[in-house]
Amino acid sequence: MMKHAAVLSVVLFCLSLGACARSDISGVWLLRSPNSDGTSRDEYLDLKQSGSTLTGTVVRDYRKIEISEGTVNGNNFHFVTGRTGHQMSFDGTLAGDHLTVEQKSSNGRFDSKGEARRSTAEAMAPPKPLPVPALHDVPYNGLAKTPPMGWNSWNHFAGKIDDATVRQIADAMATNGMKAAGYIYVNIDDTWQLGRDADGNITANKKFPDMKALADYVHSKGLKIGLYSGPGPKTCAGYEGSFGHEEADAKMYAKWGFDYLKYDWCSAGAIYQDSDMQAVYQKMGDALRSTGRPIVFSLCQYGRADVWKWGAKVDGNLWRTTGDISDNWDSMSKIAFKQLAIAPFAKPGHWNDPDMLEVGNGGMTDEEYRTHMALWAMLRAPLLAGNDVRDMSAATKAILLNRDIIAIDQDPLGKPAELAKTDGDVEIWTRPLDRHATALAFFNKSAQPATVKVSWRELKLKAPARARDLWAGKNASISGSGYTARVTGHGSVVLRLQ
Ligand code: GLA
Repeated sequence: MMKHAAVLSVVLFCLSLGACARSDISGVWLLRSPNSDGTSRDEYLDLKQSGSTLTGTVVRDYRKIEISEGTVNGNNFHFVTGRTGHQMSFDGTLAGDHLTVEQKSSNGRFDSKGEARRSTAEAMAPPKPLPVPALHDVPYNGLAKTPPMGWNSWNHFAGKIDDATVRQIADAMATNGMKAAGYIYVNIDDTWQLGRDADGNITANKKFPDMKALADYVHSKGLKIGLYSGPGPKTCAGYEGSFGHEEADAKMYAKWGFDYLKYDWCSAGAIYQDSDMQAVYQKMGDALRSTGRPIVFSLCQYGRADVWKWGAKVDGNLWRTTGDISDNWDSMSKIAFKQLAIAPFAKPGHWNDPDMLEVGNGGMTDEEYRTHMALWAMLRAPLLAGNDVRDMSAATKAILLNRDIIAIDQDPLGKPAELAKTDGDVEIWTRPLDRHATALAFFNKSAQPATVKVSWRELKLKAPARARDLWAGKNASISGSGYTARVTGHGSVVLRLQ
């Protein structure tokens, strides 16, 4: 009796203050945040409140992310996810039976408002993996004999890409010299998807009202068009993936007239093991092949599971070798200077992809962008511009359109570069080119200028008859014994020796 009375008085106290029950936000919540394109981003908040302290995880596309700095103050709460510099902050209020939540990224690129309702642990669990096919070699599609060139929407536009912008990009590329220089693919990255129709067909969201018409338009400019999906139920931005719809999606891309698919692992990582990757990518490789349409197959799984050893077997025309690039020197140089070890795995039709270009996006100096471009060219990397090519500075244009540098990237011999020498902070790379030419590049990792002397003998090269300085656009003064390069801080010198 005493016990019941105590419980009753607590309940009455709580009701009168409206406090006790309302302020405990422990439990699983489904947070739905609408995107501006009519889709919404689903995340689960798995929260544990203890007094004014909040701990737990955010489960985004089946991936668990620990929360930190969690606090509860009355009906308001706050927490963050991610590491310093890449944080997402969550601020919310308990409003009756639901939470209102505002999310902001520390880099200012993403913000959203949503509502969370009570949910269950079962709802946030990943689906069971689909059976994976036995391994076999998918026959080569005959594409990408040299590294693919074009443009991709992600680095500059992220989720703010739509039909009108893609058309304008294609217009620009057809007339600003890019198409003439070989930039052919106009690639739509993540956030084009809506969901599935009653027959299970993939549909595009309202940013892309008519995919077939868009493909026709891009083709009418003499360009090719690409798009993006992944083997998981959700893409990296939380949009509809191809999980369980691989064949149907490939058919749809072909029907719309697409020429290129970037296939991004993302939520598949919560379902399959890395050891299943080859089979999972093979499934899409086969699906693309059976459409009968030539479609470049771009593997995006951040260089996991030594993809360079099997990417060609699933008929990947390119495979990412790293995590995502950011528009700064540290990110770009960190990626670039660890690529040489795997350079020999790339060959005509099947290329290492150290990620898309950041040239012209504003986070590096023009000198650093020249180095970025020269590194990618020496690495025989795909050249996918990631900037707004409708509006480029003269310097950006000169970098992306340097025909001599592009020719190094696209050299038909397809032989890898080697580290010939390191002198202080300067790496000296050589690469055999078609018709007995050689590319010789100096990359200065330091912000201080450097003067570097090399002899032909130590580089194991025959004394060349001629040398052209590809950034200066004129002949370089070489001697019978070698060359002295003056390399600005974070700069590059690239010579073609004949
Ligand atoms: C991943 C990829 C990026 C981009 C985004 C889109 O992070 O690595 O290149 O495609 O997904 O969500």
